[in-house]
Amino acid sequence: MVGILLNPGGSAAGPVVNLPAPSLKGRVSVEEALQARRTVRRFAHRALSLTQLSQLLWAADGVTDPRRGYRSAPSAGALYPLDLYVAVGERSVADLPPGVYHYLPDRQGLELITKGDIRKELARAALYQSWMAEAPIMVVITAEYARCTQKYGQRGLLYTHIEVGHVGQNLFLQAEALSLGAGIVGAFENQAVSQIMGLPPAQEPLLIMPIGYKH
Ligand SMILES: Cc1cc2nc3c(=O)[nH]c(=O)nc-3n(C[C@H](O)[C@H](O)[C@H](O)COP(=O)(O)O)c2cc1C
Repeated sequence: MVGILLNPGGSAAGPVVNLPAPSLKGRVSVEEALQARRTVRRFAHRALSLTQLSQLLWAADGVTDPRRGYRSAPSAGALYPLDLYVAVGERSVADLPPGVYHYLPDRQGLELITKGDIRKELARAALYQSWMAEAPIMVVITAEYARCTQKYGQRGLLYTHIEVGHVGQNLFLQAEALSLGAGIVGAFENQAVSQIMGLPPAQEPLLIMPIGYKH
């Protein structure tokens, strides 16, 4: 484990991996990323760096205005009903052991939820879409609807579903800008995914995005 601080405590329940600061400069234009974006279903067996993982998560739904707590993706009423989890495979991210991690946007960190490589189990829970397990990481986006419905009622469900689309597209575009590819999976058994990942009962998985180098 090189270059990682493991800090117990803070707002997280488990040990926290501090992620490298994200970069605000890239070599691919937004237009080029939009033109290149495709749902990728074949991945090379090549590990990502912690810097790449940090950049992906920050782009997806990271904090871009710390003073007001605003994020990269818009959110109705700035209520932020979504959480991001990462299933990291064996030898998939340099210096990061396999496991399920919870993204902590406020401190650009990862909280370890459970140890071990669960990619194959997730692929099975996604109607046996075995291609998913070839990706070094899968980002799982969950919703805690009550954060939004307590203000907006039933309409909060719609707002939450709109928001996950923003986060998904952010991930797609950042993946392209890092010369990576992302897939997107909505076909899965919610209960199975929740159980495999050890998700809190209030959080429903909405999308799974496998990400890695394209094959
Ligand atoms: C909400 C949603 C769910 C999807 N679920 C799956 C899925 O379970 N498996 C899959 O292979 N592709 C899935 N896709 C990807 C679509 O098949 C893909 O976006 C479409 O074929 C257009 O291709 P493109 O993304 O490369 O432009 C999903 C896309 C969206 C937006």
